[in-house]
Amino acid sequence: MSNRMWGGRFASGPAEIMEEINASIGFDKRLAPQDIRGSLAHVAMLGQAGILPAEDVAAIEVGLKSVQAEIESGTFVFRRELEDIHMSVESRLTEIVGPAAGRLHTARSRNDQVATDMKLWVRDTLDSLDAQAAELQRALADKALAHAGTVMPGFTHLQSAQPVTFGHHCLAYVEMLARDRGRFRDARARLNECPLGSAALAGTSFPIDRHATAAALGFDRPTANSLDSVADRDFALESLSAASICAVHLSRFAEELVVWTSAQFGFVKLSDGFTTGSSIMPQKRNPDAAELVRAKAGRIVGALTGLLIVMKGLPLAYSKDMQEDKEGTFDALQALSLCLAAMTGMVRDLEPAAAILSKAAGSGYSTATDLADWLVRELGLPFRQAHHVTGRLVGVAAARGVGLEALSLPEMQEAEPRITDAIYAVLGVENSVASRTSYGGTAPANVRAQAEAWITKLSGD
Ligand code: ARG
Repeated sequence: MSNRMWGGRFASGPAEIMEEINASIGFDKRLAPQDIRGSLAHVAMLGQAGILPAEDVAAIEVGLKSVQAEIESGTFVFRRELEDIHMSVESRLTEIVGPAAGRLHTARSRNDQVATDMKLWVRDTLDSLDAQAAELQRALADKALAHAGTVMPGFTHLQSAQPVTFGHHCLAYVEMLARDRGRFRDARARLNECPLGSAALAGTSFPIDRHATAAALGFDRPTANSLDSVADRDFALESLSAASICAVHLSRFAEELVVWTSAQFGFVKLSDGFTTGSSIMPQKRNPDAAELVRAKAGRIVGALTGLLIVMKGLPLAYSKDMQEDKEGTFDALQALSLCLAAMTGMVRDLEPAAAILSKAAGSGYSTATDLADWLVRELGLPFRQAHHVTGRLVGVAAARGVGLEALSLPEMQEAEPRITDAIYAVLGVENSVASRTSYGGTAPANVRAQAEAWITKLSGD
C-alpha cells in the first residue's frame, strides 16, 4: 500500500530497505513533546487567522492532547512505516478526530516542523546544560574556598614549574565553565527565531501570523527567510561546538584526575562513589568516571564533525541528509549532561592529599623563579642575569641531588657574592604562593577572595 500521507501519486509502497533507511521514528520520537507543542501553537494561530473554523481547531487541540497523553503513558504505538514523529502524531490524530486532523498541516510542511521541533529541543537542552555547568562551578568554587591555601605543584610541560594552590587550580576550571556557559547562552540567543510557517521552502499563500506562533513557542521572532529557515542547522552546529569546547575542558580535568589519583602521584583521592575496583587486582581503585568523561569528549567532538560534514555540501533548501542531524545532536548533548553531572559528583567528594601536594610542590626546583625574583628585587640585578645566577645554583643543587634550600650561604655566594641569608625565606613553597599577589595570581588571599566572589555570584544563577 502506498503511504497515506504522501502516497497519492504512488502505486505501491516503499521497499523494506527503503523504509529502514528512511525512517527516523526510532530516534525522533523523543521530539514528541516539541512536535505537539508546535502543532498546538500552529493550529491556534490557524484558528485566530480565520484559516480554520473554530470547531476544527477545538477538535484538533483535544486530539493532540490525547496523543500527548498516550505518548506520555507509553501506550502510543510507534510504527516504522509512518517514518517520523510528525507523521506518527498526525496519523494517530486522524484516528482520534477524523478528517478535521487533515487540516492541521495547512500552511506548514515537515521541513519547517522539524526545524522548529529541533530548535525547541536544543533550546531546552542548552538551558539545562547551563544549569548543570553552574552546579559544577559551585562544587569547584566550594572546593577552592576550602583549599585556598593548600599548596600544590603547578606545571608547564607537565614539568614542575611554580607552586600554586589547589583552590587556584579549581578556579581555573570555574573560569572555563563561565565561558562555556556564555557560549551556551549565545547559541540559545541566536537560535531563538521560529522557522514555523516557512512551510516547505517558499513560505505559504495562507494569511498566517508567524509572529503569533513564534511568540506562543517562546521565540523572540520568526525567522526572516523561508529558505534559510528550513535549510539552517547552524543552531545544532553551534550548540555542538559549544558542547565540544565544554567537553574538552572537562576532559582535561578528567585527565588530571586520572594522573593525580595514580599511586605515583597520589595528589587526590576520589570517593568510593566515583571509583571502581578490579575483578582480579584487589588493591585497585580505578578512576573510571574520569576516564569516561575524558572519552566522551571524543564522541561529542565526533558529533560536531559529523554534522559539519553532513551539511557542507547541501544545496538549499531541505535535503533528507538533514535528518542525520538528530542522533549525533541528541547523543552528544546528553553525553555532555552526564559528564557534567559525573564531574560535579567527583569534585564534591574530592579530597586533596595536602601533605603529598605540599612536598611535591617544592620538588623540581619550583621556587627557582622566587630566587631569581629576590636577586632582582633585593640586589637590583637585571632579570636575565638573575635567571643565569639562579640557573647555576640549580645546577649545583641538582649535581648534589638536593633542593635549593640545602645550599649553604657560601655556595650561594659563589654564584653571586651579594646574596645574604634573607634569601632562604623565599625558598619555601608557602612563601612562594603567598608572594603571588598580582591580580589573578595564586596567593591564598586572592584565591579565597575569588572563591567567595564566585560563590556569591553563583548563588544568584
Ligand atoms: N524526518 C524528517 C527529518 O528529520 C522530517 C522532514 C522530512 N521532510 C521531507 N521533505 N521529507 O528531517
